[in-house]
Amino acid sequence: MKQCQLTIPGVVYAGPGSVEKINEVLQREKAQSVLLFTDKAVRGAGLTKRVEEICSAVKLTVIDDLASEPSYQDVERVIDEVSVANIDLVIGVGGGSVMDAAKLASIVIGADYGVRDLLKDPTIAKKYIKSLMIPTTCGTGSEATCNSIVAIPEEQSKQGIVNNCMIPDYVILDAEMIRHLPPKVLAATGVDALAHVVECFTSNKATILSDTYAIEGAKKIFHNIREAYADGDNMDAKTEMLIGAFYGGVAITGSGTTAVHALSYPLGGKYHIAHGVSNAILIAHVMEFNKDACTERLSALCDAVYPEKYAETADSKADYIISEIKDVVAKVHIPTKLDEFGVKKEDLDFLVKAGSQQTRLLVNNCKELSLDDIRYLYEKLF
Ligand SMILES: NC(=O)c1ccc[n+]([C@@H]2O[C@H](COP(=O)([O-])OP(=O)(O)OC[C@H]3O[C@@H](n4cnc5c(N)ncnc54)[C@H](O)[C@@H]3O)[C@@H](O)[C@H]2O)c1
Ligand SMILES: [Zn+2]
Repeated sequence: MKQCQLTIPGVVYAGPGSVEKINEVLQREKAQSVLLFTDKAVRGAGLTKRVEEICSAVKLTVIDDLASEPSYQDVERVIDEVSVANIDLVIGVGGGSVMDAAKLASIVIGADYGVRDLLKDPTIAKKYIKSLMIPTTCGTGSEATCNSIVAIPEEQSKQGIVNNCMIPDYVILDAEMIRHLPPKVLAATGVDALAHVVECFTSNKATILSDTYAIEGAKKIFHNIREAYADGDNMDAKTEMLIGAFYGGVAITGSGTTAVHALSYPLGGKYHIAHGVSNAILIAHVMEFNKDACTERLSALCDAVYPEKYAETADSKADYIISEIKDVVAKVHIPTKLDEFGVKKEDLDFLVKAGSQQTRLLVNNCKELSLDDIRYLYEKLF
């Protein structure tokens, strides 16, 4: 067995009503001053109401004007606006966009570097403020990772800033937060979580530790995403999705995503296709392309998720997992052709170049991708 590592949040609370555990966190941290990150849609949906009520016992500063899938300049701007000194706790209540910004705030406020510097050298980061993450989507797993993803408008792409110190100190997984999640957002974020577990399990960096989380996450997501999408009142399915997405995040810290996420970044960066949607467009094509290099892994994933297929060959089990991925994407009604998002064939050169630069993730892919391979994959999307 090779040496391996997971980076795991300090305390994780889960279950209905666990948002009340904020009280416990405030006490444990002896917090006097809290900075709450959220966005207008999440706050407008009433999801921060209880958080704000509980935190009214201390000094509370709320930032809710954060853009979706923000650029590094957006994040720098909101962080610069915070003039409160001595913040004891940063809370993020929202999807990946909010949590990523809150995690960056926890390492940038009080530091002599900014987000821009972290893009060049993430190793300089140190944690200055403890953090608590409360996801309101069931996708990114950001509440469990050491990553923050920001858009780089001048490169029309996105980039991950990764440092272990960004791991949240506290997490609250309360499915009430996703009870009224719009189905479109559930679909996109749910397929993002699906991509995390499948990519982490087939990644070159997969380990015995990450596999456990990837497999348990995959069981939850494959068996519940269609139900959670079709029936918004199915809280059992939504709870499984929330936990599955969290497991996907944990798997990322030990393994890593691969070519699906790598090739998806330019689609988000230039065309502003939602992160989960761009992954949904790519995932089946990338897995079909990868299949001959990871048949055994896809087959093992099938054994875990669909044990009733045990008697079939590894090849047909790998095909079955890919067909289930396609079925999930179809059932949650995500369009899979790029022209539906205004992307033109003339943009292929840009996509190939920008996709090939995502080397942080491409090195994790079980099959090396040449420029021609990248072009072949993007061409499949038209
Ligand atoms: N840090 C990581 O490890 C990691 C991993 C994957 C993706 N990401 C990043 O996360 C971002 C995407 O996050 P996301 O997919 O969670 O979407 P998001 O945070 O951008 O939210 C999508 C939309 O849904 C709204 N919303 C969120 N929760 C809601 C709720 N409960 N009810 C009503 N509306 C709600 C938001 O206001 C927003 O308009 C991207 O920038 C992506 O790159 C980060
Ligand atoms: Zn993702």
